[in-house]
Amino acid sequence: MKKGRASRTAEGAAAARALHRFGVPDPLFDDPYALRFTSPAWRMLMSVPGLGTWVNRSLMRPLRPVQAQVLVRSRYAEDQLAAALAQVGAAQNGRGHDGRGAQQDAYPAGRSAIGQYVIVGAGFDSFALRRTEWAKTLRIYELDHPDTQLAKRQRLHKVSRELPKNLEFVPVDFERETVAAALQRSSFDSASPAFFSWLGTTPYLSNAATLATLQAIAEIAATGSQLVFDYMIPQALLHGEQLEMMQTLKGYTERRNEPLCGDIDPPRLRAAVQAMGFEWLEELDGHQQYERYFAARQDDLVPMHATHLVHLRRC
Ligand SMILES: C[S@@+](CC[C@H](N)C(=O)[O-])C[C@H]1O[C@@H](n2cnc3c(N)ncnc32)[C@H](O)[C@@H]1O
Repeated sequence: MKKGRASRTAEGAAAARALHRFGVPDPLFDDPYALRFTSPAWRMLMSVPGLGTWVNRSLMRPLRPVQAQVLVRSRYAEDQLAAALAQVGAAQNGRGHDGRGAQQDAYPAGRSAIGQYVIVGAGFDSFALRRTEWAKTLRIYELDHPDTQLAKRQRLHKVSRELPKNLEFVPVDFERETVAAALQRSSFDSASPAFFSWLGTTPYLSNAATLATLQAIAEIAATGSQLVFDYMIPQALLHGEQLEMMQTLKGYTERRNEPLCGDIDPPRLRAAVQAMGFEWLEELDGHQQYERYFAARQDDLVPMHATHLVHLRRC
């Protein structure tokens, strides 16, 4: 990241979510705040009537799998959060939620043991504003690089003068400090179960920093806590169009001073996190993401195979 400036890839992710609202009748992930959080240049472009739809339909086409990746990781994390919050409710009212089908709008009924949501590497995620019903019962912690977080707070102030009272910002540089050390500076209660999401960040960190962050989450998370994160698999496992897409993305992030530098072999990652004390609940590769979230869509959204989604529980 460039010193003193918000993460450009975080702004790019917000732009991808904002563009997905133009001319898309059935959003995979609907974020009405994304436009206001993205960079001034993206905001200006999308404010020209008709231009947002054109950019989304035409200009974005070569980057469609990257956009799909941005959308599906947030959708997956919030589906798993909904399922975690519904666990007690399901036992009480006899219905469950498997995270499939339409995006969940209603707050899951019942009281869950999970009362804290930690958004690691939050970028311009708007959960606290978007999911007000869910947010009511959760204490929300946003952890991010201080430069991105400062820009987020300034933009947030323009979107909503009154910040949600249950939202706490915790600045952290993962290359210098662990999630556990950062959370100890906040009101986070390590004796109570929490849900963690960590999206779109591990590819920008060294593998050592990624594993250290997972270890730190294992240390600070109470038994029963859950974590959803995504990671990039080694290029050697990609072929054809998927390899070309990965190379395009590498060029895009390098030009923005945020080179992709982390990729991990799936069996190695699984063994490492299990040794840390996590139960491996689920991993979705590109094909599985496609089957769950994209196969029934009428548009050209398809996920990148370079990124896998993982759901863990602290034992
Ligand atoms: C691609 S953005 C993803 C943001 C958000 N999770 C999303 O899905 O839109 C990557 C995020 O990682 C954060 N990040 C990158 N390197 C970091 C570091 N060393 N310490 C803390 N955060 C970092 C950036 O500030 C940015 O918010």
